[in-house]
Amino acid sequence: MDIARIRAETPGIPGRLHLNNAGAALMPACVIDAVIGYTELEGQIGGYEAAAQEAGRLDAVYDDVAKLIGAERAEIAIMENATVAWDHAFYALDLKPGDRILTAEVEYAANYVAFLQRVKRDGIEIDVVPSDAEGTLDVGALERMIDARTVLIAVTWIPTNGGLVNPAAEVGRVARKHGIPYLLDACQAVGQMPVDVDELGCDFLSATGRKFLRGPRGTGFLYARKTLMEKIEPAMIDHFAAEWTSRDKYALRADARRFESWENAYALRLGFSEAIRYALDIGLDAIQDRAWMLADRLRAQLAELPNVSITDTGAKHCAIVSFSIDGVEPAPIAQALRADGINVSVSQPSSTRIDAEKRNLPYVLRASPHYYNDEAEIDRFMAALAALIG
Ligand SMILES: Cc1ncc(COP(=O)(O)O)c(C=O)c1O
Repeated sequence: MDIARIRAETPGIPGRLHLNNAGAALMPACVIDAVIGYTELEGQIGGYEAAAQEAGRLDAVYDDVAKLIGAERAEIAIMENATVAWDHAFYALDLKPGDRILTAEVEYAANYVAFLQRVKRDGIEIDVVPSDAEGTLDVGALERMIDARTVLIAVTWIPTNGGLVNPAAEVGRVARKHGIPYLLDACQAVGQMPVDVDELGCDFLSATGRKFLRGPRGTGFLYARKTLMEKIEPAMIDHFAAEWTSRDKYALRADARRFESWENAYALRLGFSEAIRYALDIGLDAIQDRAWMLADRLRAQLAELPNVSITDTGAKHCAIVSFSIDGVEPAPIAQALRADGINVSVSQPSSTRIDAEKRNLPYVLRASPHYYNDEAEIDRFMAALAALIG
């Protein structure tokens, strides 16, 4: 990996020490240029005319996402974020009173409130699969919890609040074995590690563009496995998702774009394409190795500070580092760091309520390096933090 070139291609680097890639990463120049260039074209020749002129480039985003996750292009819908993608899959499922959903302790708040809405509306039940002593989802327990009423396994692969990596592919093997649909929240995984939907065995996968993929805000995608997609209708449709074929009839699109609607942010789509190609060019294995190595370096240095507790769980740790400081509120620390040009974020307990309540987690600081960071930046962050907390 040519780190010098990659850093030179990241316009934000000279001004910021960015360790908030789990929030939104710094975009490379090619992504920014694509968004600005296309917006300028729309301004010059008109929005519909720009879309017609650039139809080929715009259409390629489906191939890019498909390549990124080992899917077919017909299985990809481009969305404005991961939550909308996830919601489209979840709300398309016909759930009845007594149906059970199995989920993870670290399930993301956006997903969990949707579960709760369907508890209220449709009378479904939510069962949380326990984690093992290290904090990883217990796949054996998951399998033992499956019964005739279990209609969905919906879990988060990497949570928003720390370095845990749940065994998404092992969950997929259990889902396949029992023929249960599997919806995977891969929002924090895509862009920091290789993702292959066949290896994962998932039926739906949702992800966002702005985090580890380094795409523009307002982008995301849904993967919907062909065999399942053909059996379900989106919760809501328009005349793009379904053609109005006669006065009383419509015909749904055959592909995953049945989850999309007619109007879209084309400039962002082009930026999203660039971000995916950029990641693929570097290679997701190399990206994972380097991002995880930098996160490990950070954890090792944090562990040396007597008043710091690292709150990451699980057997293996990804590029999200979470920690608390005895007797110190994290928000003012994050603010002080930002004033010093260093970006980290704070994860609140209500984002992952079940895990946070179980572990009695406070608000925690979250530092998430990426491959474009370097060792000197980690050391500089540590020096700034140490100066703040004494
Ligand atoms: C695990 C997880 N899932 C889903 C989301 C939602 O992603 P988006 O904001 O793109 O809808 C996030 C965002 O932080 C997340 O961390």
